[in-house]
Amino acid sequence: NPHKLQMEGKTSLELANCRAKGGSSGFKVAILGASGGIGQPLSMLMKMNPLVSVLHLYDVANTRGVTSDISHMDTSAVVRGFLGPQQLENALTGMDLVIIPAGVPRKPGMTRDDLFNINAGIVKTLCEGIAKCCPRAIVNIISNPVNSTVPIAAEVFKKAGTYDPKRLLGVTMLDVVRANTFVAEVLGLDPREVDVPVVGGHAGITILPLLSQIKPPCSFTSEEAAYLTSRIQNGGTEVVEAKAGAGSATLSMAYAAVKFADACLRGLRGDADVIKCAFVPSVVTELPFFASKVRLGGNGIEEIYTLGPMNEFERSGLEMAKKELAGSIEKGVSFATK
Ligand code: NAD
Ligand code: LMR
Repeated sequence: NPHKLQMEGKTSLELANCRAKGGSSGFKVAILGASGGIGQPLSMLMKMNPLVSVLHLYDVANTRGVTSDISHMDTSAVVRGFLGPQQLENALTGMDLVIIPAGVPRKPGMTRDDLFNINAGIVKTLCEGIAKCCPRAIVNIISNPVNSTVPIAAEVFKKAGTYDPKRLLGVTMLDVVRANTFVAEVLGLDPREVDVPVVGGHAGITILPLLSQIKPPCSFTSEEAAYLTSRIQNGGTEVVEAKAGAGSATLSMAYAAVKFADACLRGLRGDADVIKCAFVPSVVTELPFFASKVRLGGNGIEEIYTLGPMNEFERSGLEMAKKELAGSIEKGVSFATK
């Protein structure tokens, strides 16, 4: 019985895990959707993160194999697997950070919003579990459409009386990762030296790179700005089309998710000046959620930065982004409150 092996600590693996638990410090992290295209490399990379002491891998399929495999890595995090809804509560209890990449990905021809009907319900159920078992955890939402799933999570937490807007973050890090890569390519720089703020949301024209605010400062012709903006906005679709029916970005997403989760953990630890872009509850615009730079700290989001000076091209992009975002946010809210 796989559940017995996973859950009751009867195997030598589990006994080893029990002993390891006593001596370690660090954060407890759960990944919901851990067996998926993102979930597996994300689980592997989180097992390599020295800030993680306990790693809970939850999915509705295949967690036994993924957990067994990853648990053999000689890093300090203790790995435990959880399979199916009856084990969700154990997966979540005591967690400091919960990362959610559960749900279906796009196929060519689909928008992220086409995933709403399936993924909205998945995110809702998982967030109900979080509200019940680890209401103080930082929550990183990857499941699409992020522009709607984050508002759904907020409504679930409000209903449960556990809502803390500082602890809910939609992961838009992949947009920044792509922007850094594409901009570095155009400028002939090392991408590690480039930092592009990307604001708005995580779908098409709601993805708004602020090329005028790149560090180090650089300038573009209007053709370059148009090319880069369009490539960043359509980066997800570029991968969906290349994968031709086999899913969407998984490896670059796992990389981006770990970059973001690591920032959240460094914030929790008390590191200074941990600043990343994320889609968060916000008053930066008139919309209730918006992606922008946030400073991460011991309570989650400690500060949300204003958008800063934008050029004409960016200002008109912002107006278009806000229009689409308003509808996506409203769709999520009404799903969760109906
Ligand atoms: P996938 O199909 O490979 O994996 C999804 C996993 O979720 C599967 O293992 C599945 O069993 C699991 N799952 C399904 N229902 C579940 C439930 N109720 N509880 C727990 N787990 C459940 O998909 P993927 O490629 O890993 O993508 C996952 C999601 O991430 C998609 O919605 C995709 O659009 C999104 N995504 C977001 C970003 C971003 O930048 N935010 C980037 C890439 C993908
Ligand atoms: C991405 O940006 O790669 C993800 O949102 C997945 C997708 O559907 O494009």
